[in-house]
Amino acid sequence: MLFLITAGPTREPIDPVRFLSNRSSGKMGYAIAQSALEAGHEVVLVSGPVAIAPPAGARVIQVITSDEMAEAVQSQIHSADVLVMCAAVADFKPAHYSLHKIKKQNAICNIELVPTRDILATIERPSRQMVIAGFAAETESLSENALKKLREKKCDLIIGNDVSRMDAGLESDDNELVLFFRNGETLVLPRESKLLLGRKLIKILEQIAERN
Ligand code: CTP
Repeated sequence: MLFLITAGPTREPIDPVRFLSNRSSGKMGYAIAQSALEAGHEVVLVSGPVAIAPPAGARVIQVITSDEMAEAVQSQIHSADVLVMCAAVADFKPAHYSLHKIKKQNAICNIELVPTRDILATIERPSRQMVIAGFAAETESLSENALKKLREKKCDLIIGNDVSRMDAGLESDDNELVLFFRNGETLVLPRESKLLLGRKLIKILEQIAERN
């Protein structure tokens, strides 16, 4: 199967030297990509700017902004069997980009923001069956928020991730996940390395693809 996987943060530029971004390291998405390759699948990895090397064998599309990520996902989705939206896409971007570095004498204290496009919720999906998995990065009410994302973003699976913890999740080599399936089932994957979790996720995604 062909796995289309997004990973890492996006950067939303303010001026030539500044941007808005988040703490995503890309480790979870890269571990899922490596696991898919190990299982014999093809992988297209759409990656925001990260400091780690992509797994050998993946076709990597490097992007910076959420708009570029949306475009890259849209360009690849028609050949994908499975989409895993692991990227921490910025929810807001500056309304205006300054071509010149904003000088501190200008005393800018407020940056006007506009929402970015929600890639997972709005992507134009192929008419044939494909498995779609999203993440839910939450600091509170994980189940409630994850189930809302499962419904509203029309996913087969939402992978819930408590990002308030310092010992797992964002930037860490380990993670603990709670999976929310469309049929109402949930599954806790206790804390372990992102690579081991990635391997479990690939098996689960393969099972969903078989059932579809
Ligand atoms: N996502 C996306 N495009 C965005 C924002 C999020 O495709 N502009 C995807 C993420 O890749 C993830 C899922 O939507 O698979 C949920 O992302 P998350 O950050 O948990 O939630 P948001 O939809 O951004 O909502 P909120 O910030 O209110 O939790």
